[in-house]
Amino acid sequence: MEPKKAEDIVRRLATALRSADLYSPTHPLVQHGLDGLSGAAIEALQAASSVVIGFIGDEVIVDGARLPRGTAALVGFARDLRDREIEKVTFSRGLTRDEVRHFVAVLGNRQSETPVADLLASRGVRHITVGKIVVEEVSDDQAGIAAARRVYTSAVETAETLWQAAKAGDRPDTATARKIIDGLARLVTQDRTSLMALTALKKYDNYTFTHMVNVAALSMALARTLNIDGALLREFGFAALMHDIGKVTTPLEVLNKPDKLNKEEFEIMKQHVVDGAHILRRTPEMPALAPIVAFEHHLKQDLSGYPEKIGSRKLNLCTMIVSITDVFDALRSNRVYRQGLPTARIRAILGEQDSPAFNHVLLKRFINLMGLFPVGNLVRLSTDELGVVTAEHPSDPFRPQVKILTDRKGQKLEEPFLANTWDRDARGEHSRAVVEAIDPETVAIDPLQYL
Ligand SMILES: [Fe+2]
Ligand SMILES: [Fe+2]
Repeated sequence: MEPKKAEDIVRRLATALRSADLYSPTHPLVQHGLDGLSGAAIEALQAASSVVIGFIGDEVIVDGARLPRGTAALVGFARDLRDREIEKVTFSRGLTRDEVRHFVAVLGNRQSETPVADLLASRGVRHITVGKIVVEEVSDDQAGIAAARRVYTSAVETAETLWQAAKAGDRPDTATARKIIDGLARLVTQDRTSLMALTALKKYDNYTFTHMVNVAALSMALARTLNIDGALLREFGFAALMHDIGKVTTPLEVLNKPDKLNKEEFEIMKQHVVDGAHILRRTPEMPALAPIVAFEHHLKQDLSGYPEKIGSRKLNLCTMIVSITDVFDALRSNRVYRQGLPTARIRAILGEQDSPAFNHVLLKRFINLMGLFPVGNLVRLSTDELGVVTAEHPSDPFRPQVKILTDRKGQKLEEPFLANTWDRDARGEHSRAVVEAIDPETVAIDPLQYL
């Protein structure tokens, strides 16, 4: 199911149950909630024989795909159902509005001691079932960080075998690479949060292979924000995965040198873009994009990078994406010669004024996508308030401390105040979350004066 539709059904379920909690069964809001929920569920059941909504921890999972985090209302709703020992609601084909009405009425009756499942059965509801999540059901292809980690780890392992094959002089096995890309593409679409978290692990023992997978994953995530999907998205992922394959011919003492490369060594290093293009061009079934991206990924927007003297040329869109994610991942990873850099510092490096390296529109998108909100950044919150980031959370880049500068209507406050977006209210919900970074010029606020 499309993530939007999944989210829509869950919202309607939450709304219907909330109205039934608050109002009498005949109240128009309750009727409206029933209409909304049954309409959405019945529509979804035209495409599938069942729709399964699960609640694990604070997460809501629809047909195995996790809904995006950060929806406070849904967190409370998930918790409430779990407290009532409902971990899973299944709608199946044949569902009627009447059954939805019974279901909502049964759940609205909090006094009853009888288990919900029995109450549903006694009212003849056959197309809605509730239950606990059986562990086997949350298996491989299902959602959650554990499943994402399996996909990611096996992608890194497979990247290693691709690399070793290419190093031994064989051709990289495109069928295997395609499997990696299919897995990552699914994650990028269904569970981007987990995938992004995995790419942020700062391991350095197998940098070469994690770098391949990270650049592929980050590039696909950025491509998705441009509405690139399906076969083209996979092609982008493929090209990104293979961008540095030419390094199989780079001598290890150059590749892993802890110090700055001297001129001679740098010339040797530069060779990887040409070697990579050669390797990929002679590999059958390699997408045509792959050798192009391997050749272009160090060229920079103004062609001031390498290979040198290649005449005029317009960089491929995929190259522009990979140039950003490549540098980002390299800076963030721990290397033999230095620790991974903090995100604010990376952002500063990437965003240096007049840097000819990157396409600035894509760069901005990428930074927004990564949810990196360094100190001094003006941000919009889920409450519609505007604020300036005053401190980063030590481990969660999505939840900084913010000084609130305007109310939800955009009126500047007399007395700006500090708010921690990681704080939870009495019900355990986050009352504020950062939604996006915004350009101070568009709202005529100088965030830096408030620091
Ligand atoms: Fe490279
Ligand atoms: Fe690279």
